[in-house]
Amino acid sequence: MKGIILAGGAGSRLRPVTTSVNKHLLAVYDKPLVYYPLATVMLSGAREILLIVRPEDETAYRNLFGDGSALGLTIQYRCQERPRGVADALLIGRDFVAGEPVVLALGDNIFFGHGLRAILKGATSRREGATIFCYWVNDPERFGVAELDAGQQRVVGLAEKPKEPKSNYAVTGLYFYDAQAADLAASLEPSERGELEITDLNLAYLARGQLHCHILERGFAWLDTGTPDALLDAANYIATIERRQGLKIACIEEIAWRQDWIDGHQLRTLADRHGDTPYGRYLADLPRIGR
Ligand code: G1P
Repeated sequence: MKGIILAGGAGSRLRPVTTSVNKHLLAVYDKPLVYYPLATVMLSGAREILLIVRPEDETAYRNLFGDGSALGLTIQYRCQERPRGVADALLIGRDFVAGEPVVLALGDNIFFGHGLRAILKGATSRREGATIFCYWVNDPERFGVAELDAGQQRVVGLAEKPKEPKSNYAVTGLYFYDAQAADLAASLEPSERGELEITDLNLAYLARGQLHCHILERGFAWLDTGTPDALLDAANYIATIERRQGLKIACIEEIAWRQDWIDGHQLRTLADRHGDTPYGRYLADLPRIGR
């Protein structure tokens, strides 16, 4: 399983904060936003990861992650010159994916909830088709929306930001695809907003009878970060849970260590990088917390 994280985009609703800093590098409480989708992709089991970024941000991302080896990953970078839609990520990453299954995560989506790893592993083990994750929201018209059958089990329709949503189920920014994805993405036409819509790709899988949907139940948190209020809400949510437990959410170093992708010595090196800071002390303390 390969992983792609789409971290392009102008973040225009966050200006002036995003005038000179890419949105996905902004802090969500104690770590950059991009750590959260990276954690999701890592929990899915992907160790070969492609980060799609704007040309002007590439250096900043390389400074953050390097080649990924410190985390037991290989991270490559590819530039998206201008926002051409979520499905464009599969075209940019076509040679990287090289006909393997892929998990695609949007760089501004935060997932948190009990059993997430098992849910992701379930999607990873599905060899054919596509898997999407849907979540009940108050404002479905802002998202891709799934229409479900009477049993709420199968998707019967999808629409991108419909004026009159057929349900409250938003399609979240996390997608698992089989080897057909790039070919199908290549056959898409741009939408009215000039983008290759991920909803159109998912419709192509639906038409083939190969679209699986997992409902993330109400006990989950799916947060987005597109506006100042959403970003603040996400930060407060993460801070509330982390302060209560003293355990971090989306700590990529911890995930690498727990998955045995790095050993205790490498974890210590990562801890030392952050020195005597709360984040560094947390990493140094992980062996005591235990696996
Ligand atoms: C994109 C997708 C949309 C999905 C959303 C999730 O929207 O097009 O279907 O529900 O991500 O964050 P966009 O961010 O391009 O508006």
